[in-house]
Amino acid sequence: MTRRKELYEELLREVASVLDGEADPIVWMASLSCLIKQKLGFFWVGFYRMVDGHLRIGPYQGTLGCLRIELNRGVCGAAAAREQTVLVPDVHKFPGHIACDANSESEIVVPIFDRTKRLRAVLDIDSDKLDDFSPVDQHYLEQVVARMKDAEWTRGS
Ligand code: SME
Repeated sequence: MTRRKELYEELLREVASVLDGEADPIVWMASLSCLIKQKLGFFWVGFYRMVDGHLRIGPYQGTLGCLRIELNRGVCGAAAAREQTVLVPDVHKFPGHIACDANSESEIVVPIFDRTKRLRAVLDIDSDKLDDFSPVDQHYLEQVVARMKDAEWTRGS
């Protein structure tokens, strides 16, 4: 197993032991930002929430994120509009990429759904290395956020 897979397996165990049974989506987002950043070392890890048809910043760890993103703007807006994970090997080549931090080189954004399959938020992770994300990251991160589907989502959280 590659080192990164091992780290994700550890992450899944930590997430289960810390967050199983937790209903509050803010607790999930704050704790996952910390656990993912500590475990995998990416320089920006955080969440944007769907609020009134646009994305608003949620809990995160890293430098200041932009506060509001319209659907279809940037990588986050693309993932929200398509309701699919978007992997960007080189953010400088992604049309409309929003550069919140000049150190960002590659990015992955994973949509988060509630139990009725309604889009509630996206997980955004930025790396300072080019081409840092693969289907392995997508596989594990989709598993992690799938655990949030039973949280008690309300408007804005
Ligand atoms: N780069 C993102 C914007 C959010 S920040 O990186 C925190 C995007 O293009 O959606």
